[in-house]
Amino acid sequence: MSLVKIAPSILSADFSRLGEETRDVVDAGADWVHLDVMDGHFVPNITFGPDVVKKLRRWTDAFFDCHLMISPADPYLEAFARAGCDRLSVHAEAGPHLDRSLQFIRSLGKQAGVALNPSTPASAVEYVLDRIDLVIVMTVNPGFGGQKFIPSQIDKIRQLRAMIGDRPISIEIDGGVTPETAPLCAAAGADVFVAGNAVFKDGPEHYKRHIGAIRAAA
Ligand code: DX5
Ligand code: ZN
Repeated sequence: MSLVKIAPSILSADFSRLGEETRDVVDAGADWVHLDVMDGHFVPNITFGPDVVKKLRRWTDAFFDCHLMISPADPYLEAFARAGCDRLSVHAEAGPHLDRSLQFIRSLGKQAGVALNPSTPASAVEYVLDRIDLVIVMTVNPGFGGQKFIPSQIDKIRQLRAMIGDRPISIEIDGGVTPETAPLCAAAGADVFVAGNAVFKDGPEHYKRHIGAIRAAA
C-alpha cells in the first residue's frame, strides 16, 4: 500500500452523471474523492452544495475530501458535515477567524484542513497546526480545473514540511498535478495529490491508468 494518496477532483467529471463518475473513479483506485465547492464569490466559478454531496454519498463509502472555496464558510460547515464529508478544508483567506472555523469543524467530528492560495505564505497555518489534519497547497489560483501548475509553490511545500515536523498532518497539492509535476512536489514533502484534468481527461476507461501514472510518478 502506497503512502502517497491520490484524490481525483470530480470538478473535471461529467456533472450530468456525477454519481456514476464518482463510483467509477473510486473503482479505478482513487484513495479519496476531492469535492471542490465554489460559490462564485470567493472564486469566480460555481459548483455544488451540500445536497449534491448527500446524494453522492449513496454511490460510495470512499473518503470525501471537501475543499470549500466559499466565503463565509462557517454558516455552511454543519450542512457539509451532515451531508457526509469526511474532511472539511477552508481557505485561510476566506474569513478573519480561521482558528474558530477549525475548532468548529473538529467539534462536528470531522477532520479539518486549511487551503492556501498561491500568494498566501506558509506562515498562515503556523498557529493552527494543532487544529488541522491537512494543508492544501494551491498550485493554481482556485476556480477552474485544467490550469497550469505554478512552480513557485514548491518552496512553500518545503517550508510547510519543515514547520509540520512530526505532527500527523498531510500536505495536499491541488492544481495542475500531472505525472510531470507530482514528483517535484513529492520530493519537497507532499503526500496527497489532487488531480482533475489529469485523471478525467480521456473518459472512464482511462481513469485507472491515469491514477496509476500519477501514483507511480509521485
Ligand atoms: C481548483 C480546484 C482543484 C482543481 C484541480 O480550483 O480546487 O481541485 O480542480 O484540477 P486540475 O487537476 O485539473 O488542475
Ligand atoms: Zn480543490
